[in-house]
Amino acid sequence: MKKPKTKSAARGLDAIFRPRSIAVVGASRERATIGRQIIRNLLDGEYAGKIFPVNPKAAVVNSMKCYPSLAAISDPVDLAIVTVPKEKVLGVADESARKGVKGLVVITAGFKEVGGAGAALERRLVEKVRRHGMRMVGPNCMGIINTEPTCRMNATFAAAAPLEGGIGFISQSGALGEVILSDARAVGLGVAMFVSMGNKADVSANDLLEYWENDDAVGLVLMYLESFGNPAKFTEIARRIARKKPVITVKAGRTTAGARAASSHTGALVERDVVTETLLEQCGVIRASSIREMFTYAAAFATQPLPRGPRVAIVTNAGGPGILATDACVNLGLEMASLSPETTAALRKALRPEASVENPVDLIASAAPRHYREAIRIVARDRGFDALIVIFVTPIVIDALEVARAIASAVDAVGRPVLTCFMGKERSDEGVEELRLHGLPVYSFPEEAAAALAAMVRCAGFRSRPAGRIVRVRADAARARRVVERAKGPWLEPGEAEAILEAYGFPLPPSRLASSAAEAMDAAIDIGYPVVVKATSPRFTHKTEVGGVRLDLRTADEVGAAVKDLSRRLGGRDEGVRFQVQKMIRGGKEVILGASRDPQFGPVLLFGLGGIYAETLKDTTLRVHPITDRDAREMVREIRGRALLEGTRGERGSDLGVLSDALLRLDRLVGDLPEIAEIDVNPFIAGRDAASSFAVDCRIRIGCAAPPAAPRQAQRR
Ligand code: COA
Repeated sequence: MKKPKTKSAARGLDAIFRPRSIAVVGASRERATIGRQIIRNLLDGEYAGKIFPVNPKAAVVNSMKCYPSLAAISDPVDLAIVTVPKEKVLGVADESARKGVKGLVVITAGFKEVGGAGAALERRLVEKVRRHGMRMVGPNCMGIINTEPTCRMNATFAAAAPLEGGIGFISQSGALGEVILSDARAVGLGVAMFVSMGNKADVSANDLLEYWENDDAVGLVLMYLESFGNPAKFTEIARRIARKKPVITVKAGRTTAGARAASSHTGALVERDVVTETLLEQCGVIRASSIREMFTYAAAFATQPLPRGPRVAIVTNAGGPGILATDACVNLGLEMASLSPETTAALRKALRPEASVENPVDLIASAAPRHYREAIRIVARDRGFDALIVIFVTPIVIDALEVARAIASAVDAVGRPVLTCFMGKERSDEGVEELRLHGLPVYSFPEEAAAALAAMVRCAGFRSRPAGRIVRVRADAARARRVVERAKGPWLEPGEAEAILEAYGFPLPPSRLASSAAEAMDAAIDIGYPVVVKATSPRFTHKTEVGGVRLDLRTADEVGAAVKDLSRRLGGRDEGVRFQVQKMIRGGKEVILGASRDPQFGPVLLFGLGGIYAETLKDTTLRVHPITDRDAREMVREIRGRALLEGTRGERGSDLGVLSDALLRLDRLVGDLPEIAEIDVNPFIAGRDAASSFAVDCRIRIGCAAPPAAPRQAQRR
């Protein structure tokens, strides 16, 4: 069978997805059983290889010779589909290894999903599979499908067989997988390969993405996911594959119930579901909020080329749906195309006098099939649009099938994506079928067509931007590690935090720590006036909120008075309060660079307007580690306050390159030091060049456990 080039991690999957022979171990004599249904589906689908039923209690299953064991089969066996009770699965795995079977699909349930002994059983199963160099889908899955004509394998127990097509389908839920297969068939979407992943004990979504990356049989990947096993790897692989083929995901679990308590700005600003959204967007993966939406998108992606831009033309026979389509397009960031004077003049000639020839082109209710044909052909000559939506509401007097034929006969001239919408009670199944047979997506509502188009424009936009590089900035990682290891934590002392930033090349203003007014005055002389004095203590996170910062101190007396006043209000050396004397940095804009650690996705980086505005304005943007140089550049440019950073009303702007460089440093820092749970560099003063930009304050919390009881609440005045 045809073998595409695959990356190392996906090697071995051909035995599972393109086997030359399959043994069904647990092929039951009983009709209404899973083992038997799999045999039936393999036969009904006309599997191209050999099938060997295995069952020690049967000589014949489904009119086929049945083998008492794998060992009794004299031919080689590539893949074993396992449907024996869970107590027997380990034995079958051993038997498979002895027989030289390379792939297992374990349908049997009762493993990790039931916890305790099931989880232990699964560990032993995986250990066996790995030890013998096999690959395994499942356990607790519904099986796999490959519709390629050279394979035609339906090794599931699903009732619905899919149509042949170009979709690679990954489902983390078996039950939903069955629904998805029948729904895909109902809307005319064809599947190349389908995988019910079950517990993902060995083969993961990441492996499948890699397997399909260079596989011509798969042109579009759809995923129903409930969790990410290895988000960092997902980021790396999805980023790559999404540039080559669209990946659409329904990720279940959008609610933020159970959101973590967090005590840094970054932690408080990062919500769980937003992180999923961020990760997917960062990788160019399109997120659908429901299975229905996934099909809405897939119908367009599977049949139409990607649009070159956001300009939409609409041809309709009803005003209302035309307006709905226009609203939906504009709300989703698409643009209504302006048709050229030549186009509108030609339309005026060809259409009824009552027709509206501007976009949306309204043919009016009495439009005949030929009006659709002519209008689409005329519009097709216009270069001023990137995609066309054709809407048809079925008036009783018009034959919907004929309209569908007219549309189908004209759309080939468009040479850009065309999406259709057939509305109304008399929707005409034949009309819909005709359009689908012609390779057009057909929707019931204009909003669906607009949503699909908007998703395609996003995808095209992602692909047209150059892929970024993961840049490894220079850093003294060993020095930072020593600081972390010696920290008494959980909040690092200001000196420790500074040492870490310094190790990663952040620009820092001159600063010294002092325990008394006298020490602070000495420090100020060394540093040079004007200075800032900041009270620091593990007890408070936000110095400004407790009134712990004194700015622009110009004399020794001012420094001394500030320290005495702060000691009186917040405590002195005996209460663990110390004073950081720092060079006063003038000018520039305050921004925040931060990172917190998501339990599922790892470090999440944040950038936004900083200082006291960080939490009030919430003008921030996120990326999941690791970020590329492109991510860093985009982060500093996509906040709402970008104009402030670039300089308004004659003000000089900040050096945005310094900011993206600092984000790359932060990215490496959190990647190197997994002990860092949260870090806020806030404010980072974004000056007009590198020499005037400084990380003037930083808080770092060590530890993977939940943050200590909210210190900033306790300390608020
Ligand atoms: N090798 C080959 N066949 C064997 C065997 C072995 N080592 N041990 C038992 N068998 C045969 C049995 O003889 C039986 O055949 P028979 O029906 O002709 O007697 C067949 O395997 C099935 O065994 P049985 O004991 O009848 O099990 P079952 O059919 O009740 O259940 C499962 C088997 C796998 C279906 C069940 O354990 C299970 O896990 N069900 C849930 C599956 C599921 O939901 N998966 C997730 C979907 S999303």
